[in-house]
Amino acid sequence: MRFDILTLFPDFFNSPLSTSLISKAIKKGIVEVSLHDIREDGLGRHKQVDDRPFGGGPGMVLKADVLEKSLKRSIKTAKKQGAGGKPYIILLDPTGQRLDQELARDLAKRQWLVLICGHYEGVDERFKELFVDKEVSIGDYVLSGGETAALVLIDATTRLIPGFLGKEESVLFESFSKIKLDGKEATLLDYPVFTRPEIFAGRKVPEILLTGNHTKIKKWRIEKALEKTKRNRPDLI
Ligand code: 6GU
Repeated sequence: MRFDILTLFPDFFNSPLSTSLISKAIKKGIVEVSLHDIREDGLGRHKQVDDRPFGGGPGMVLKADVLEKSLKRSIKTAKKQGAGGKPYIILLDPTGQRLDQELARDLAKRQWLVLICGHYEGVDERFKELFVDKEVSIGDYVLSGGETAALVLIDATTRLIPGFLGKEESVLFESFSKIKLDGKEATLLDYPVFTRPEIFAGRKVPEILLTGNHTKIKKWRIEKALEKTKRNRPDLI
């Protein structure tokens, strides 16, 4: 899977991409990430990338002509580096479709994503209409830029690529995965987990987890997951 990130702050990605599990995926060759500095496509002596909104109002708007240049340059570079086919173009923007596990799974099936990090008051609407396949938001709050959102999207998708996680089953039952419950599909949060020592600060591990009875343990875990989901995320049930 290949990501091309278009951003005004390429350095922002240095540490997250060179540490953590994502860097392991990059080293394994499962994921390739390339950064493209939008500023390099800025216009004129001042490398202008944004301008005031028509109709007035606060903030600056990223220019459609600059972003078009940036996008075309990034695709050209990617193809030179061996990228094949057609990229799926994503704009990280608070007005986009909210990222959830289902969308992450859909995106993880794609070979090539271009992630454009929005900034300031937003991006000229005509660029979105002409070039963007999907606008994605990571939640109902406003970030100062799309960079953190792009990292979230990369993390959520790459960990779903086969071969990325140590144990494939860790994807099967985890927060926000759908499970079969009484014959129906249900989305549950994770069950609580414990490890050694058996007694910590006077609190003992739930007895059932020490019995080795896997049928009972499974039932207990689903019960606990349901309790937690009802308490923290009643909207999921
Ligand atoms: Cl993708 N961008 C910004 N600026 N804010 C956000 C977001 C994206 N998703 C949630 N808030």
